[in-house]
Amino acid sequence: MKNIILTGFMGCGKTSVGRVLATRLGFRYLDLDEAIVQEAGVTIKEIFANQGEPAFRELESRVLGRVVAGNGLVVSTGGGAVLSSANRTLMRASGTIVNLTASVETIAARVSGDSERPLLQNDPSLERIRTMLEAREGCYADADLRIATDAKSIEAVADEIIRSVTGGNVRTDTVRVALGERSYDISLGAGNLDTLGRVCRELELSGSAAVVSNTTVAPLYYDRVRAALEQAGFRSVLIELPDGEQHKNSTTLNLIFDGLVDAALDRGSFIVALGGGVIGDMAGYAAASYLRGIPFIQVPTTLLSQVDSSVGGKTGINHPKGKNLIGAFYQPRAVLIDVTTLDSLPQREFLCGLGEIIKYGAVLDADFFSFLEDNAERLLARDKEALIHAVGRSCAIKARVVESDEREGGVRAVLNYGHTLGHAVETLTGYSQFLHGEAVAIGMVQAARISKAFGTCSQADCERIEALLARFGLPRELPCFPAAAYAEALSHDKKVRDKGLLFICNQGIGAYHMERVKDLNALLEICGIGE
Ligand SMILES: NC(=O)c1ccc[n+]([C@@H]2O[C@H](COP(=O)([O-])OP(=O)(O)OC[C@H]3O[C@@H](n4cnc5c(N)ncnc54)[C@H](O)[C@@H]3O)[C@@H](O)[C@H]2O)c1
Repeated sequence: MKNIILTGFMGCGKTSVGRVLATRLGFRYLDLDEAIVQEAGVTIKEIFANQGEPAFRELESRVLGRVVAGNGLVVSTGGGAVLSSANRTLMRASGTIVNLTASVETIAARVSGDSERPLLQNDPSLERIRTMLEAREGCYADADLRIATDAKSIEAVADEIIRSVTGGNVRTDTVRVALGERSYDISLGAGNLDTLGRVCRELELSGSAAVVSNTTVAPLYYDRVRAALEQAGFRSVLIELPDGEQHKNSTTLNLIFDGLVDAALDRGSFIVALGGGVIGDMAGYAAASYLRGIPFIQVPTTLLSQVDSSVGGKTGINHPKGKNLIGAFYQPRAVLIDVTTLDSLPQREFLCGLGEIIKYGAVLDADFFSFLEDNAERLLARDKEALIHAVGRSCAIKARVVESDEREGGVRAVLNYGHTLGHAVETLTGYSQFLHGEAVAIGMVQAARISKAFGTCSQADCERIEALLARFGLPRELPCFPAAAYAEALSHDKKVRDKGLLFICNQGIGAYHMERVKDLNALLEICGIGE
């Protein structure tokens, strides 16, 4: 959500509601009339008296144009600002127009005794108010939302706006990750990117924020992030990195350190990771090590990073000899997820995220798996409500797993469902043919087939998993390589311990068990890969 523009006749509560609304949303409040007075250097009453209404309206349009170019604002406009269609076009382009209404009687009671209202000064009668309201009705009606304010408290009106503006776009959910003193909240919504400043303020962060992003994501979202931070009183600097997994290395990590040092960020500062999993992992690792640790906030913008990498505190970079070989467990202070950022995500990346979401249902939550089956089309259409539910549920499931095994000593290994063969596929194809989520999708199909062969998953459940992956357009068949190559790739998997490969199997849908597999060839034969 960009801005909220409040329109309405005088006395409808635009100023008082606007202030409360801005505080609730973590937005900046701006009164158009005050901005006009500032610009003119005289009161509105004086402008009307000395220059007349047309001159005032001209000034009003000019100031409005400048004001609404910003982001994350609640702007209350003067009662007549909507009369110009050019003004209304400006307002609409800049955000959501909310028109506050009130009855003639309510307005008369609210404005009585106010000598600063030039248009009612000579004739403050009910009749005059009614005539003006009728004349302006068409302009006021040109709004995204109309709210009657009679007999309602300011807070109630603000609540109503928050609930209904842009079809629930400011709806937020919170998932708690309970890790003692390292606990944090995942705030989840559609259109809530602009609340980042408020989230940071509530965490009692201070000082400057270094926003770590890349050349793809920063042009899309950094302006909003900067505005949100600045409105909450934080200075922000952007550290823009090259885009791509190939840059998740020590050279790029050093670019982050260079940026932090150049901006003279001290221990009172913090990092905001704005991007997908690559940015989140690198920025988190930089936060873990810069000055021996400064706070960081995850603002994940890919579906995969929203449901997986931003939660749980695994941070790190790749080494030429292997992925994620260097890193640290370092929890963020908060995760802020705005599912509207997914609107710009390429389809292939989006589908990869859906693959990770299926993983949670397949081995940890049967009801969630059914939800995904029932809502596949809505999810594919990136329906916000469906996404908020799916992302929130995934985060909650991951949070429960991380809470019981923060440093991956045991149960957290369940999150590797589908990843064992997925990693082998990535290795054998040189990380070029499949995206990570696609390789994991192939791995999940094989894991279900292996589970069926082990007798822990029925044919029907196996087919449901495969069918859902197919519906999300994800690949399912292992690429053709000799069994020996697969065995070699599997035995390099970091989960291979002395006792054999720890393989995550389905226990039907929604549950799992871990199987030690020593005979890799037998496992591969189940997948149709023979010697
Ligand atoms: N830390 C963990 O627990 C964990 C878990 C899973 C994966 N990971 C890591 O995450 C990385 C993969 O993450 P990813 O899939 O998010 O990849 P990514 O970060 O490379 O993002 C994919 C692409 O989408 C672009 N992008 C991001 N947000 C966008 C948006 N809103 N609109 C348009 N484009 C956007 C990126 O710039 C990039 O080009 C891997 O490095 C993997 O190792 C970490």
